[in-house]
Amino acid sequence: TGAITLDPGYKNSGSCTSDITFLDGEEGILRYRGYAIEDLAEKAGFLETAYLVIFGELPTKAQLEQFETDIRKYTLVNEEMKNIIDGFPKTAHPMGVLSSLTSALTAFNPKVVNVENDKEMYEAVCKTMGKFLVIATWTYRKMMGYPLNYYDNTKGYVENFMHLMFELPTGPYKANPVVIDALDKLFILHADHEQNCSTSTVRIVGSSHAGLFASISAGVSALWGPLHGGANQAVLEMLEAIQKDGGDAAKYMAKAKDKDDPFRLMGFGHRVYKNFDPRARIIKKAADEVLATLGVNDPILNIAKQLEEAALVDDYFVSRKLYPNVDFYSGIIYRALGIPTDMFTVMFAIGRLPGWIAQWKEMRVNKEPIGRPRQVYTGYPLRDFTPMEKR
Ligand code: CMC
Repeated sequence: TGAITLDPGYKNSGSCTSDITFLDGEEGILRYRGYAIEDLAEKAGFLETAYLVIFGELPTKAQLEQFETDIRKYTLVNEEMKNIIDGFPKTAHPMGVLSSLTSALTAFNPKVVNVENDKEMYEAVCKTMGKFLVIATWTYRKMMGYPLNYYDNTKGYVENFMHLMFELPTGPYKANPVVIDALDKLFILHADHEQNCSTSTVRIVGSSHAGLFASISAGVSALWGPLHGGANQAVLEMLEAIQKDGGDAAKYMAKAKDKDDPFRLMGFGHRVYKNFDPRARIIKKAADEVLATLGVNDPILNIAKQLEEAALVDDYFVSRKLYPNVDFYSGIIYRALGIPTDMFTVMFAIGRLPGWIAQWKEMRVNKEPIGRPRQVYTGYPLRDFTPMEKR
């Protein structure tokens, strides 16, 4: 087969062609299906953006209503799924539970495994959008020991997220519209990001013709790691640790620059953005607005500000083009909205779901070959077998 080109981490290899997301890391540009992320965050809703990402065009009013109705049809999750949830300890991390529950959905929805035509593809999309939101919030209910909630057909998708998470049998619950708006924006900003680690995982698992739920379950696992989606939780834990340690941001800057110390400044740097992450810019502004509207005065924000200001003028960070990324600010908003830290990466997963679905669909529609990277072998040449007694 000739020489293999080695590219660890696929820093310079394209794995597919894609019509979904355009990203220019040097210029800090992000577009879904040709539409600027800034416009979508300002003018569109999350389901509208999901429709665009998955089907390629902005929906008409009728198409969007139909999409929402069709998703709603599939929001009931089989009651037997509760047996699976019961088996987890309350201390289980929600991302592990979410990945398992997503995989378990295949058992109850075999059609999502063998998508054979456009109609089945559309149903698989709506089922995934409907059921994933519900089970994502169930990971929180489990952690808290609360009874599980059901989707409320009188409310919108993002409002349902708040209801599913926070409504208790003991009293009525009304989500703050400012919070719903902010979440809508956050989900839009996370909706797709071309061939990132979790999306590449979804595509590569799907390339073996594994089903949509199985592929997305693998994507959830990939997202969990602190170098990817898990960074939003890691950022908050880092800020809390700095606060506990006396609030000395400079000390942690020094640790991050020390090559003998494995500590990295969480929420800084990006494989593709070598300029400000455009999502971070929008989220930062949204964070300021939400915190002002909700009257939140969080001391952790001061530490975040100090780190950001110091990094932006520090030689180490400037020369390596390490700017704050989306995860640096998203955790700060989630915290202000009352979302517990362990749920931050689940929030990312809910937002990223349309992207995973769209990329899986594109991979199947384009009839891509099975993903099967090569390697450069660096082990032993042929060796004589050593019998047990001679080892
Ligand atoms: N703190 C300190 N040094 C860093 C950091 C950081 N956060 N990020 C990169 N570096 C250094 C790294 O040590 C290396 O230095 P040198 O050239 O001297 O060896 C240089 O910058 C290049 O880093 P890299 O690890 O080769 O770059 P990468 O493209 O492989 O990694 C990254 C990208 C995002 C994994 C990395 O920047 C990182 O670990 N950041 C912290 C975790 C984080 O915030 N992740 C969220 C990413 S955005 C959303 C998402 O994907 O979910």
